[in-house]
Amino acid sequence: MPVVTSVINLKGGVGKTTLTLALAHYLAGEHSKRVLVIDLDPQTNATIAMVNERRWRERDQSGQTLYQLFRDQLEGTRNFNARDAVITRVSNIGGGMPGLDLLPASIRLHRIQDKITKVADLDTYRDGMVYTLREALRDTLPAYDHVLIDCPPNLGVITLNGIAISKYFLIPVVPDILSTLGVPLVLDRMADFALRAQHEIFGLGIVVSRYRPNSRLHRQTVMSMRRDAIPGIHPPIFNSIINEDIEVAEAADMEEPVTSLRQKFGGSNPHKQFSALTDEYLRYVGG
Ligand SMILES: Nc1ncnc2c1ncn2[C@@H]1O[C@H](COP(=O)(O)OP(=O)(O)OP(=O)(O)O)[C@@H](O)[C@H]1O
Ligand SMILES: [Mg+2]
Repeated sequence: MPVVTSVINLKGGVGKTTLTLALAHYLAGEHSKRVLVIDLDPQTNATIAMVNERRWRERDQSGQTLYQLFRDQLEGTRNFNARDAVITRVSNIGGGMPGLDLLPASIRLHRIQDKITKVADLDTYRDGMVYTLREALRDTLPAYDHVLIDCPPNLGVITLNGIAISKYFLIPVVPDILSTLGVPLVLDRMADFALRAQHEIFGLGIVVSRYRPNSRLHRQTVMSMRRDAIPGIHPPIFNSIINEDIEVAEAADMEEPVTSLRQKFGGSNPHKQFSALTDEYLRYVGG
């Protein structure tokens, strides 16, 4: 079975999607892993950054996104088929990267998430709504070495579907005060889910992203985060840090064809950082 990791933080804009995208690309491109990205976010940022918008719209109209899966669950229909919904060889590197696949989201997930919340049993997590994704991907997951889940900035039922198939979670943070405040809440909610759903999930670590070396606040926050990390209780801070760099933001652009990871993720600095981060990730998950 693959190593399944959710990239999560309740705070928006901290680099969840960027980290998911980069890890997936480097695992496939530098380590020849078979990688599936699952986009659970109705904002569809990971989807649009891995296939272009036109291709996503075609998929969305033909019901081949995760929206259809959850709609089926609510309406008792069976139109979603994981085999058809997974888009293979995604990315604009070389016209598509071998080994890099995507299960796309839809903005229509927004509409359905409230309806799901109404019928889900969030005290015991025993009912099917939290395990919809797990059931749908039973035959699909074994084909992969790594699965990365891009979560929305909330812990609603759709996110919990990702947590329910994950062995690990990663928390990207921007090292400022407001961004780090939410980390204990994520840890608390993960522990609560693990207990109630009887599903073991491990905090792999906190990844500092959008780091500005010239900012005193950023430097101090990283220092105190490292000091406060408590082995066994608080997940460690990754040694690898991702700097704020406009080239990283531009990596989400699918329109320009590119030929290499280095060209997509930007120059030597971001490329080195993502490459080192991926090596570190692989060391922790033992993959
Ligand atoms: N290292 C970086 N350097 C510069 N810009 C970055 C970096 N990482 C992310 N960004 C930009 O910051 C914005 C937020 O990043 P991203 O979409 O990855 O965050 P997110 O946590 O997934 O947000 P959301 O909670 O809305 O899903 C995006 O415009 C992205 O391009
Ligand atoms: Mg995102």
